[in-house]
Amino acid sequence: MENIHQHEPKKVFLETFGCQMNDNDSDRLLGFLKDIEYIRTDKPEKADLIIINTCSIRDKAEQKVYSTLGRFKELKKENPGLIIGVGGCVAQQEGATLLKRTPHLDIVFGPHNVHKIKELLNEAGNKKRVVATGFNEKIDDDEYAIGPSADGIKAFISIMRGCNNFCSYCIVPYTRGREVSRKSADIISDAQRLASSGVKEVSLIGQNVNSYGTSGGGDVSFPELLRKIARVDGIERIRFITSHPKDISEELIYLFKDEPKLCRHIHLPVQSGSNSVLKAMRRGYTREEYLSKIMLLKRLYPEISISSDIIVGFPGETEADYEDTISLLKAVRFDNLFSFMYSVRPGTKASEFTDHLPLEIKSERLHLLQELQKEITFSRNLELVGKTLEVLVEGQSRIDPNEMTGRTTCNRIVNFTTEARGSGSLVDVVITNASPNSLKGIHNERGNICS
Ligand code: SAH
Ligand code: SF4
Ligand code: F3S
Repeated sequence: MENIHQHEPKKVFLETFGCQMNDNDSDRLLGFLKDIEYIRTDKPEKADLIIINTCSIRDKAEQKVYSTLGRFKELKKENPGLIIGVGGCVAQQEGATLLKRTPHLDIVFGPHNVHKIKELLNEAGNKKRVVATGFNEKIDDDEYAIGPSADGIKAFISIMRGCNNFCSYCIVPYTRGREVSRKSADIISDAQRLASSGVKEVSLIGQNVNSYGTSGGGDVSFPELLRKIARVDGIERIRFITSHPKDISEELIYLFKDEPKLCRHIHLPVQSGSNSVLKAMRRGYTREEYLSKIMLLKRLYPEISISSDIIVGFPGETEADYEDTISLLKAVRFDNLFSFMYSVRPGTKASEFTDHLPLEIKSERLHLLQELQKEITFSRNLELVGKTLEVLVEGQSRIDPNEMTGRTTCNRIVNFTTEARGSGSLVDVVITNASPNSLKGIHNERGNICS
């Protein structure tokens, strides 16, 4: 007899923490789940499947997993058919320990196992509790079988995974494995597919994009990959993140000259301004080498915006080391900065160091540094008032429906007035006002850039 019941699609509630790599994994996960007829819900109480994609970069991030899982304990009691899974970096780090600590958890899967979700769900459906934290040395063809989805006119493309750097504080090489690059042809075909569905801006992502192609998998250098993407019709803007200061080549620095599609922004995490701390962090560059690359970038491209990451309170960081970081901030005047208190990560080299700083010192140093950076960011924004900047229109502003919003090539949010209403076009905007985190402007329809 024919089945005349129309079954309801199953629902997945997915929460993602951490970096763009995790966002990208969640994106692929949703794609694989869509294939087996799951749709996304934002209500955990309505879900048949709950997945938390976790981050372990600092202890606080890791602890979030346990509190988030705690929230779902009651739901599992009410609905024993509910399947709960943990993916991402904490899953990789903790493996079976997570299952032991959390009796209502069914699946633990690491970042190399996202594409195995269907098998894992089958096992969990048979009342088995499963752990999948194996590493593949190579990228399986089916891992990226689901291409990246477009968020309107923007999309992220993962070009590599893992990291070989083993900075002494960092857990990533342990949770994401060795660095492997995707083949350039696969990346280009993702870009072409995205362009044909209306995407104008792609961000190429990896933990260390400058070493793309140098350690397995990749067939061209990173600058060559950028040139190839720039030739994809329909792609108007290209961003990339994250660059490592030790690997950023002169070829890449000079590429900004020849490639107008490359956005005038670079994220170049420095971590510390002190040579002895940089050495203990195993970053592979000195303060002087970092500064000379920054000065070259600024000399060649006065309009370029530079952002960075800083860790304060690394073991053994003296007052003088900290002052070196402060003086570096003043010398560079970053457009934006992400700063963190050092957090011990299990299994890393720095976890063996004994000269840890008290929380009060770390927290005071972080606070003072953030206050200084706030002033710098605001004054860098103020410097743009009166200039005409090119903005990729993303849609209506959420704050004021009479305004449109978008980003400049130098990665600033601009809310502006205009007669035009569509998204996806590049327009010239005269900047009239700056606030600490965004700019305001008026669409300049005669359109001559004078920045
Ligand atoms: N691959 C990137 C960084 C990825 S992690 C790079 O090499 O720059 C993002 C940021 O988290 C790092 O730049 C660093 O500033 C911070 N971070 C990493 N490990 C940390 C730790 N143990 N404690 C505090 N911050 C940390
Ligand atoms: Fe971590 Fe260093 Fe690799 Fe960045 S480069 S992911 S900080 S080990
Ligand atoms: Fe976090 Fe893992 Fe990314 S530790 S920052 S989710 S690589």
